[in-house]
Amino acid sequence: MPAVSKLADSAQANGKVILGGEHAVVYGCPALACAIPAGLSLRCQASAKSDLLELQIPSWELDRSLSATPGPTEDRLDAAIRAIFEHAQIEPWGHRIEGQAQLVAGAGLGSSAALCVALAKLALGPAASQQALYDLSMVGEAVFHGTPSGIDSHLAVHGGFVRFTRGQAPETFELAAPLRLWVISSQTPRQSAQQVEKVRDRVQRHPGLAEPLWSLFGAQVQSMQAHLLAQDLSALGEVMQMQHHLLSSLGVSTDLLDGLCQAALQAGALGAKLTGAGGGGCVLVLPPAKLSQAEFSGALERAMQEIMGLVYPHFPVEIE
Ligand code: PMV
Repeated sequence: MPAVSKLADSAQANGKVILGGEHAVVYGCPALACAIPAGLSLRCQASAKSDLLELQIPSWELDRSLSATPGPTEDRLDAAIRAIFEHAQIEPWGHRIEGQAQLVAGAGLGSSAALCVALAKLALGPAASQQALYDLSMVGEAVFHGTPSGIDSHLAVHGGFVRFTRGQAPETFELAAPLRLWVISSQTPRQSAQQVEKVRDRVQRHPGLAEPLWSLFGAQVQSMQAHLLAQDLSALGEVMQMQHHLLSSLGVSTDLLDGLCQAALQAGALGAKLTGAGGGGCVLVLPPAKLSQAEFSGALERAMQEIMGLVYPHFPVEIE
């Protein structure tokens, strides 16, 4: 394996939120998703520890040291990092990488793809094509998720707002006006791979339901896209709620995610749904146009307090 003397100095990658079609996208249905720009930034420098690759991302409480020989306690994250550099035929030893993340980790906001893409950028350098970055990041994503659809990596590399169908060229579209969404974190970690497996098991137990189920997902995504383009936010919110219930029928919602959706609706939201793999992670909320950010945040806090006795972290995401 040829040694490289230096990785790139810095790299950025986007996070994402899925508006609709998560899980179904693994089975070839379309999903609608948009990037959270620059969700992760990495800085890399040479270090005196010539046999180690160090990676620290304090807000993810992540502090790893990898050496050329895998240790007995390596987890998926270590294996994904190792797989990316091995696949690129690059020896990353003697580097220290520090990261700053705007994204909550392991919460359906595309943190693992952002990490894989940012590492791919450090490995391949600034001249790498977007396709090469995507392909290399998918090597790491496969370690994290088993059978990733590629939607997270696509958005981590390209950004924007897309309708994504596995195996097809993603369709990027522009919105007539920026879309404001809110994200509420359930603070419940979960692994996407387990949730994807759970859905696979359920669908395999009911093979006759698979086709109508995926076709309903596809129809809802189509309708969300039409409402978005027409700027009909109340219709969009209604279909978001239908998506939440459809995802819930696959077994990937939880009482807490349902409660957070209920709190958002009580606060006046037009729609709310789990986003990403579910089982924990985040809820995506479409706020009412008539309330300011501060008013909606206050209403949301009061509703969470009343329904769950606790205020969960929440933040706005503006999609251009
Ligand atoms: O890892 P998450 O929570 O962002 O979920 C990814 C979306 C899924 O559709 C559940 C899986 C995939 O590979 O598309």
